[in-house]
Amino acid sequence: MSGAIPPVVLVHGGAGDIPDSRVANKLAGVKRAAREGYSRLIKTGNVLDSIEAAIHIMEDDDAFNAGRGSVLNLEGEVEMEALITEGTHMNAGSVTLVRNIAHPISLARMVMEDTPHTILGGQGVEDFIVKMGVPRVSDDYLITDYAKEALAEFKRKGGDPTKTEIGSDWVPGEVGTVGCVVVNSTGHVASGTSTGGITGKYRGRIGDTPLPGCGGYSDDDIGAVSTTGYGEAILKYNLAHRILTAMQSGMPTQNATKLSCEGMTSRLDKTAGAITVSNKGEVGVSFTSTRMAWAYQLGDEIHYGIEKGQHLVEKA
Ligand code: GLY
Repeated sequence: MSGAIPPVVLVHGGAGDIPDSRVANKLAGVKRAAREGYSRLIKTGNVLDSIEAAIHIMEDDDAFNAGRGSVLNLEGEVEMEALITEGTHMNAGSVTLVRNIAHPISLARMVMEDTPHTILGGQGVEDFIVKMGVPRVSDDYLITDYAKEALAEFKRKGGDPTKTEIGSDWVPGEVGTVGCVVVNSTGHVASGTSTGGITGKYRGRIGDTPLPGCGGYSDDDIGAVSTTGYGEAILKYNLAHRILTAMQSGMPTQNATKLSCEGMTSRLDKTAGAITVSNKGEVGVSFTSTRMAWAYQLGDEIHYGIEKGQHLVEKA
């Protein structure tokens, strides 16, 4: 493919206090996801296929809090959420409180493309899984020892869900929501976000991820965003939408991403991260947590990092 706009596939593996022991797996996972999404984009030019390809890699990888490896609610269950958005028609599809499937991001795409609705949850999403013939996976597949230990530690420490994904003193709960933003050579943008939520959440808790403008957003006139971090704050702040609004007023992509994450943290005292692409192929990566794994492929290079200020480059 060729064109004035460089195609970009940028992914994140979740904002949090990621312990040293988890850094290598997260970096390997985000680089693999960026490569897979980019290869699909170059082959097809289809931004939604690229989002799905990248996010499937991370939903299958238990280094991340999405699909296999999702964190547990207070009852020890996995309830997942995902959102996909595209920028031409500002379409979105999302699912919440999803159980026993491998790829919530694909179910979110089915909601967007095969129903007249935007968000499905509860019994309705169960019925939709059956109707669409989506294969089921067992709890044994989805639930990892790490997630079980995280819930046990959460309960031992007194059960404060604000500390489970991103808290500073609670290492076992660290895990990451995953996300991807894509722009193709025509300036068409899309975003996807998939998560198990936060350890120790109430059964039935709905976070920021499935909500357009919070967990993600896409507008071909501006760009696309995917967010990660403490969901209750992200949804109150409408973090994804704020980033695009700042860009629309003329702020460069990286500044808009950074200032919006910092604005949320300063206003609501909770940390978050976001990845952004503009419709011109500019990239934004920022987080107010200790770490956030991210990667993107541009041409034959992979750019990646996990620490604040880190930007490494290697051949794809
Ligand atoms: N940001 C993921 C969640 O809070 O559910």
